[in-house]
Amino acid sequence: MSRRVHEYEGEQVSVSYDAKRCIHAAECVHGLPAVFNPDRRPWVDPEAADADAIAGVIERCPTGALRFERLDGGPAEAAPAESVVTVATDGPLYVQGDLRIGGATGEPGGSAAEEARVEYRAALCRCGESANKPFCDNTHHECGFEDPGAVDAGRGTVVEDLEGEAGVASSGRLAGPLSVTAAPNGPLMFGGMIELRSGDEATRTLVENPALCRCGHSRDKPFCDGTHFREAAASCRASAETNSCAPHSSAEPTWSASTAESSCDSSRSSAARFNTSGDTGTIKASATSSISASLACW
Ligand code: SF4
Ligand code: FES
Repeated sequence: MSRRVHEYEGEQVSVSYDAKRCIHAAECVHGLPAVFNPDRRPWVDPEAADADAIAGVIERCPTGALRFERLDGGPAEAAPAESVVTVATDGPLYVQGDLRIGGATGEPGGSAAEEARVEYRAALCRCGESANKPFCDNTHHECGFEDPGAVDAGRGTVVEDLEGEAGVASSGRLAGPLSVTAAPNGPLMFGGMIELRSGDEATRTLVENPALCRCGHSRDKPFCDGTHFREAAASCRASAETNSCAPHSSAEPTWSASTAESSCDSSRSSAARFNTSGDTGTIKASATSSISASLACW
């Protein structure tokens, strides 16, 4: 049985919670334990603090699982002034900015382009195993995804080499909107300038229009190096040898949709562990509108 995104309405503020987007970063629980208490039902009490405090904590939720609507005339959440992507160690891409997270276009047999959704915070899967792509659903833990989250400073313009942090911000170079598109069976395509941060935040570099890996296999992480294409082509050639590969109408291999929601299986080899095969790049309606009771986090 599925449930809608949870809504918790108080006098001053209404809080919504999308359990499928929550990966237990616990900013909320640590920030305002009186409001966000996983040992209580309902776990969110919007009357337990003032609206400004609740809004402040929700704005630190890195995944966008929590949102708020002010009912007291207070300010709505503002778009971050800078587009920042942090490559989490062994985890997702944390993205903040004036985001337009869009569905894919041109998928064979697929639907027309989805309208991009405005988001300010999101955790995007880069292990290839989330069942809620393009968003992270914490499956990277089960799959043993390992990547130090390093960023090669030489791939962009190092922030410290510019006019300083305030200068970069005031220059407007990192201002949104920033489009983010999950390419079918391919990388995350960013449309605009971003500040790319390593997981330890020691490296901060400006890059423009990057394509970042979301299959987990690139040897040039966080950037896409085309491995998803080569692996799929090799898989397809192997299938062709056993006459199980359907003929293609384009140069790009097509994949079986049956692998789109592959569950993490630790018995699989590491080479086959991560994939976006069969992923259309579209955002499922269920990614925002319904959750499974078994996935309810708190
Ligand atoms: S809702 Fe989930 S992801 Fe967001 S701050 Fe709370 S624990 Fe973290
Ligand atoms: S990076 Fe978290 S599920 Fe893929």
